[in-house]
Amino acid sequence: MIVLGIESSCDETGVALYDTNRGLLAHALYSQIDLHALYGGVVPELASRDHIQRLLPLTNDVISKAGIQLSDINGVSYTSGPGLAGALMAGALMARSLAWSLDVPALGVHHMEGHLLAPMLEPNPPPYPFVCLLVSGGHTLLVRVDGIGQYRVLGESIDDAAGEAFDKTAKMMGLPYPGGPHLAKLAEKGDAKAVSLPRPMMDRPGLDFSFSGLKTAAITRYKLDDKPSDEDLAASFESAVVDTLLGKCARAMKQESLNRLVISGGVSANQHLRAEAGKLCKKLNGEVYYPRLEFCTDNGAMIALAGAFRLQAGEREALGVKIQPRWSLESLPAL
Ligand code: KG4
Ligand code: ZN
Repeated sequence: MIVLGIESSCDETGVALYDTNRGLLAHALYSQIDLHALYGGVVPELASRDHIQRLLPLTNDVISKAGIQLSDINGVSYTSGPGLAGALMAGALMARSLAWSLDVPALGVHHMEGHLLAPMLEPNPPPYPFVCLLVSGGHTLLVRVDGIGQYRVLGESIDDAAGEAFDKTAKMMGLPYPGGPHLAKLAEKGDAKAVSLPRPMMDRPGLDFSFSGLKTAAITRYKLDDKPSDEDLAASFESAVVDTLLGKCARAMKQESLNRLVISGGVSANQHLRAEAGKLCKKLNGEVYYPRLEFCTDNGAMIALAGAFRLQAGEREALGVKIQPRWSLESLPAL
């Protein structure tokens, strides 16, 4: 079965074709970074309008890259939430209409399930069960995963997501949007021990996160007269986020008696996080899995894959366009 996947939940338009026999056939991505950079963050109305302009050209692009015909598509999946309502609507309308015109099924996919399953696109996919750390711009979740749709949220951020804390701290330091990767680049040249910053919520039991106070602590140091160098502050901030994320991962793995860890979502592209996660899993005699770098951040391939798993299992949705800007991962049906 060949599934066309469409991602448009935020500021990236992603389109891909996934074949349940042959794997990923083609994918294409258009990032709206330049469009929003001027404003220092995503402007929802501009995002929606831009998705509308990119969706059809990108779809034609993947069809020609894959060397198939439009009529070879057997199903269409799209991100129906969580995300920006207008942006989601652009993808949902296009996906639903195309599926209707081709007389094939369509299915709305949960964006975070897309991130969670993205490592399954790699040659060495993680076997179930595993602990999954989902770290994106909008969410920070620790999940026990026993199979597709078998998700138990063990912990989540009670305020800012990890990526959001990276972006807001970077913005205060005058770095361009989106700040996460820019801050990480600065951190490479800094001393992570130069500035002492908190490891929030590590001193109490539980698996929830909080990054808002850490962000404020970093920004406060930046505003002081004797402020540290940008490089040192970036390295110290990055280190505090990574220590906190992995401290909770270790706790979750112990609690669930699992030694396999999956890390996915935009922040999983962070090299310091990857290096430290590698050390942690080695210590625990386990293994850590990631998507390839380009599939850590938003993309169409993960939505085509998640949709293909579910459509192949017979999941269908009624005719009509429905988006779910707020949507719990635990409410998804098990396959
Ligand atoms: O998954 P994603 O593309 O979009 C959402 O679903 O939110 O994640 C984007 C987030 C942004 O906050 C971005 O700054 C962060 O991932 N990010 C990084 C890095 N690359 C992307 N944060 C830290 N280090 C990176 N290398
Ligand atoms: Zn995402």
